[in-house]
This record gives sequence, structure tokens and C-alpha cells, in this order.
Amino acid sequence: MTLIGVPRETATGERRVALVPKVVERLRAAGLSVVVEAGAGAGALIPDEQYEQSGATIGEPWAADVVVKVNPPTPHEIGLLSPGTAVIGFLAPLTRPEIAEQLRLTGVAGFAMEAVPRISRAQSMDALSSQANVAGYQAVLAAARNSTRFFPMLTTAAGTVKPATALVLGVGVAGLQALATAKRLGARTTGFDVRPEVAEQVRSLGAQWLELGIEAAGEGGYARALTEEEQAEQQRRLSEAIAGFDVVITTALVPGRPAPKLVTAEAVRRMRPGSVVVDLAGETGGNCELTTPGETVVWHDVTVAAPLNLPATLPEHASELYARNVQALLELMLTDGEFAPDLEDEILAACCVTQNSDQLTEAR
Ligand code: NAI
Repeated sequence: MTLIGVPRETATGERRVALVPKVVERLRAAGLSVVVEAGAGAGALIPDEQYEQSGATIGEPWAADVVVKVNPPTPHEIGLLSPGTAVIGFLAPLTRPEIAEQLRLTGVAGFAMEAVPRISRAQSMDALSSQANVAGYQAVLAAARNSTRFFPMLTTAAGTVKPATALVLGVGVAGLQALATAKRLGARTTGFDVRPEVAEQVRSLGAQWLELGIEAAGEGGYARALTEEEQAEQQRRLSEAIAGFDVVITTALVPGRPAPKLVTAEAVRRMRPGSVVVDLAGETGGNCELTTPGETVVWHDVTVAAPLNLPATLPEHASELYARNVQALLELMLTDGEFAPDLEDEILAACCVTQNSDQLTEAR
């Protein structure tokens, strides 16, 4: 019987866990057994007993056939894995290729959650999307907390307060959730993306579409990187538009590239004092020139916040959604209840960053 191991996440500030008890139950029903490291669910407030009640055992997760993680394994953790086993999690194949290389040298198969293709059949496995949803939501709450103004319109005996205006730049999964959340809080919302097909989705959320006249649709539903001239033009046009907003949330991403710089220091300087920029792209360098990843800075009385790993700040639901993504991917890897990933499958071929020693021997 295939044994799935769930270690405790060790990254600083991480509170998520790769499997939650409900999903353990489902995996057991699918014929798998699960071992969870003591305290693995503590950050998400899931006690060991709940895992035990769902049929998992508490013990050593690194000796399992398949280890499931949220964050990439550290070199020490990779050293704990045995040849012929597999690890599933965010493995940063584009930004930290040394992780896949170390897995390959150890003879461990790596399946990267971020490399699951964005096709309809793989939607239930799309952890980038499930976690970006959390980030988009938390970004708006961070903006509201840092703003000197209300989001909703208020009519009170002491006078009327106008609703805040929020602009979301880059309307992928995080951006759509940011638009929806800001709207729910009562802001007047506007969105912009270089993929023109997004305009309809933006409008369907009751937001306006910012017409900048800059388009850069690329392959596979992603944007392409702008040329230097296009980027300069985008910055210039945005600089004028941004001055009118109380809140700007940036989420622009081109996979495998440094974050495009959309918001210049000059654009921030033109914003009204008390306004807020929340930059979700801090991990890849930031969409705003003033961004210091992981920090909140104030510039000319405008707050620029670039929080990292927002999904870890909503650990219960972020873990639940992530665990369902892992479950869906694992189920695709089973044949007669045993772990036997078919690398001819389009999804598994895309997210397999390295094969294990057994698979390679079979292929020879
Ligand atoms: P996504 O790929 O769904 O969306 C990114 C959007 O940016 C796309 O719609 C793309 O067309 C757009 N874009 C690319 N270049 C642009 C440009 N020059 N101008 C305007 N739009 C442009 O990505 P997703 O999953 O929504 O993630 C968005 C960002 O949030 C990423 O940078 C991701 O790393 C980050 N993120 C941050 C977290 C945090 O805690 N800080 C957590 C999760 C995601």
C-alpha cells in the first residue's frame, strides 16, 4: 500500500500544511495510507488527534513513498528522502532549479504544483490559483488596514464619506479576487491587464476597465513580457491614471521573469497622502519601484506594502484548498490504488520536474 508522508513545514512564517484531515480520509478511501509528522498541522490549528481520527498515523513522514509538502524541501530534507520515492509540492522549478537537480541526484521524483498546466482538466489541481485567491483577498485587507480612509461609502449624521477607489493592475487569479474583495468592502473598483480578454471578467465583477491601450497577450493564457519601450509607455500612462486612486493593488506576473515594473516612484508621489499600494509581486522583485519585498514603507505619506507569503496568513482555508489540489493530483497518479504516475499524461508530464531512480530504470 502506498504510504503518503506529511512533514511539518519549516519555512519561516509558514503556517500551512499539505494535507488536512478531511483529505486524509478521502485518500484512505482511495487506498492510500498516510503518516503525518507530529505537530504538522499546528500552524493551521489542526491537532494531531484530528489526523489520527481521520485514519492517519503520527510518525516519521520522510520514509514514505510519496512526501507531500507546501514549500520546496530544503537540502537537509531532500537528504532524508530515499531513492525511488517522490515528492509533491511547490518546487520552484523556474526560480530555484537547484532543487530539482538535487532531487534528481538523490533519485527522487519531483512533481511541482506550480507547473500544473492551466487547462480545464487540471483546474482542481491548480494550487497556484487556490493560493493566489487567498493572496488577492488578504491584499485588500492589508490595503484597508493601511489606508487612512474608509472603503465603503457611509452616510452618517456626521456627514457622508465617499467610497474609496481601488485599482488592480494585473488581473489573473489574485487580481480577480482582489477586485471582488474590494468591491465587497464597498470600494469603487477598476482593473487593468495587458491581456485584453480579461476586460470582460473585470466588468463581470462590477469593476471598470482601465483603457491604457497596451496589450501583450502571450502563450498558454499568460502575458508576454513587454519590450522596454512598451514598459516605459505603460509606466507613463499608468502614472497619470494612478494619481486618482486611493488604493492600488499590483499582481502582474510573467512566469519565470522578474516582475514587470508598473508603478514608478513618481506615480506614487502623485497619489493622495494616505493612499496605499499593495504589491503582491514582491517575491519576484515587485511591480512598484519603491517595493522592498516583505516590508511596508511610507513614501510621501503613501504606504507601499509588499507582503510575502500571504496564503500562510490564512492557514486554515489555504491548507484546505491546497490539500484538495494535492488530493486531485495524487488521484491522477494512482493505478489500482498504487502510486504509479503515467508520464504520458499531459498534466503529469508538465509538472514532473525529475523522475526517480525506479522510473528511470524502467524506462531503460
Ligand atoms: P496570474 O498569472 O494569474 O496573473 C498575473 C497577471 O498579470 C496576468 O493576468 C497577466 O496578464 C498580468 N500581467 C503580466 N504583465 C503585465 C503588465 N505588464 N501589466 C499588467 N498586467 C500584466 O498570477 P496570479 O496567480 O494571479 O499571481 C499574481 C501575483 O501574485 C504573482 O506575482 C504571484 O507571484 C503573486 N502572489 C503573491 C503572493 C503573496 O503572498 N505575496 C501569494 C500568491 C501569489
